[in-house]
Amino acid sequence: MTRFVNALIYALLAGLGAFRIMQADFTVGALTTFLNYASQYTKPFNDISSVLSELQSALACAKRLFDLLEEAPITEENVFQLKSDNVEGAFDFQDVTFSYDKPKTLIDDLTLHIPAGSKVAIVGPTGAGKSTLINLLMRFYEVDQGQILLDGVPIQPN
Ligand SMILES: Nc1ncnc2c1ncn2[C@@H]1O[C@H](COP(=O)(O)OP(=O)(O)OP(=O)(O)O)[C@@H](O)[C@H]1O
Ligand SMILES: [Mg+2]
Repeated sequence: MTRFVNALIYALLAGLGAFRIMQADFTVGALTTFLNYASQYTKPFNDISSVLSELQSALACAKRLFDLLEEAPITEENVFQLKSDNVEGAFDFQDVTFSYDKPKTLIDDLTLHIPAGSKVAIVGPTGAGKSTLINLLMRFYEVDQGQILLDGVPIQPN
């Protein structure tokens, strides 16, 4: 807006100056000087408005940063302690239901047993939820219903 208004003023001055030159009561040199001063006068306004917009995006960034800093740490009770020596590696999905966006269920009532020491291929078209299964195993996301067990022990505290 600032730039637009400044450009408008510049154009008006140039038009008015040209009109007066045609009426012979103004010179081309005087108009050039006048326009030069006009743009020198408006430059600080452009500068201020660009600083203001930078300031606003900095404030928005700061808000995001503080939101993150103020996020309460997740405190867990009955934490499943992984002792890697004792882990057999049997995984169970019991009636797992999960969705990233609540109304759209991605995994609906999935039950799956993966015996310890076995190799399992997860096969499906893109977007089927293969990576999602791993995300749930790693607890990057929590299941909505059901539970996941490692060696018969639920991986999420209840
Ligand atoms: N972090 C996320 N937030 C919201 N939706 C997601 C997220 N990650 C994946 N999805 C959606 O969930 C569905 C399953 O995605 P997923 O990544 O598990 O598929 P995939 O089977 O691993 O696919 P690909 O073969 O392409 O790796 C997709 O529709 C995807 O758009
Ligand atoms: Mg994937």
